[in-house]
Amino acid sequence: MSDNSTPNSKIQSIAVLCSGGDSPGMNAAIRSVVRTAIGEGLKVYGIERGFAGLLEGSFIEMDVSSVGNILQKGGTILRTSRCPDFHEPEYRKQAASILKRKKVQGLVVIGGDGSFNGAHAFHEEHGIPVAGIPGTIDNDISGSDYTLGFDTAVRTAVEAVDKIRDTAHSHARSFIVEVMGRRSPAIALHVGVCCGAENIVMPNKDMNLEEIASDIKRGEKRGKDSSIIIVAEGEVPGLSYQIQKQLKSKHEIDAHVCILGHIQRGGSPSPTDRFIASRMGFLAVQALKEGQQKIATTYNQGQVHVSPLQDCLKKKKEYLPQYIEIVKALSI
Ligand code: F6P
Repeated sequence: MSDNSTPNSKIQSIAVLCSGGDSPGMNAAIRSVVRTAIGEGLKVYGIERGFAGLLEGSFIEMDVSSVGNILQKGGTILRTSRCPDFHEPEYRKQAASILKRKKVQGLVVIGGDGSFNGAHAFHEEHGIPVAGIPGTIDNDISGSDYTLGFDTAVRTAVEAVDKIRDTAHSHARSFIVEVMGRRSPAIALHVGVCCGAENIVMPNKDMNLEEIASDIKRGEKRGKDSSIIIVAEGEVPGLSYQIQKQLKSKHEIDAHVCILGHIQRGGSPSPTDRFIASRMGFLAVQALKEGQQKIATTYNQGQVHVSPLQDCLKKKKEYLPQYIEIVKALSI
């Protein structure tokens, strides 16, 4: 038991919600939370549409069969939302009184860094125990090597780029493929390595157009008939169109753009996502049951752990530029 815990707590009822962008594996986590809680003799509520649903009092009492046949399904049966109101203390206060009225003594939040920040502030202000489960395709939560949905999203994007490669090869074309990950280059880096891309453009970094153009031209010289540039979207999708325009005007390179978008968020979760989600849900409930107050489940060195929630709120996760080096070394 960590310093974070209250050994005598007698928790009898918890709730679970999903928040932020949906990600494959959320359902597996919900199933695990619900069944572990019921197995521990707890009452468990599902809250619909994230913090927005919490503020509206949208609770469903879950039983064993409410999470039947969902393990393999994408999206989230509880649905989700982005809830700007929850950034405001007055709305968090309302949420706390709703939970207290319902006699909920622990809240499991499945979501990304914004959701974790909300959960942390909520606990600090109102003392309701919270357990975060990292769920976002972006894999950008510090303190955990993994977030639910990332493996499936990478698999989806890799399958898409493989298909694009067929056309790129058949027509001897260059393609710029934009993948998701608002502030995170994680999907782009993995997809770039897995698809043998010629270059990866990272979000919020100065892009080196000269280098992109010379990589494409070098490939052409040695008889390569297709090139793939992977672009990580930044705050606003569409950077690929600027790159396309500049490649044409400055280097006379014709490249086609494909923005993969939300297909990366859907689909049946991979075995990795189901496996980690099931373990995280189980541990999150155990932690609340034993009186922990403010934790997140994390995945590090191949194991799922219970960590202080603060560990996941620290600075931005660093990504090794090594991946770009590898992409460049292997695409000569
Ligand atoms: O959930 C993460 C994410 O998919 C990011 O990769 C992406 O930038 C963003 O959400 C898109 O959000 P929305 O679906 O709200 O447009």
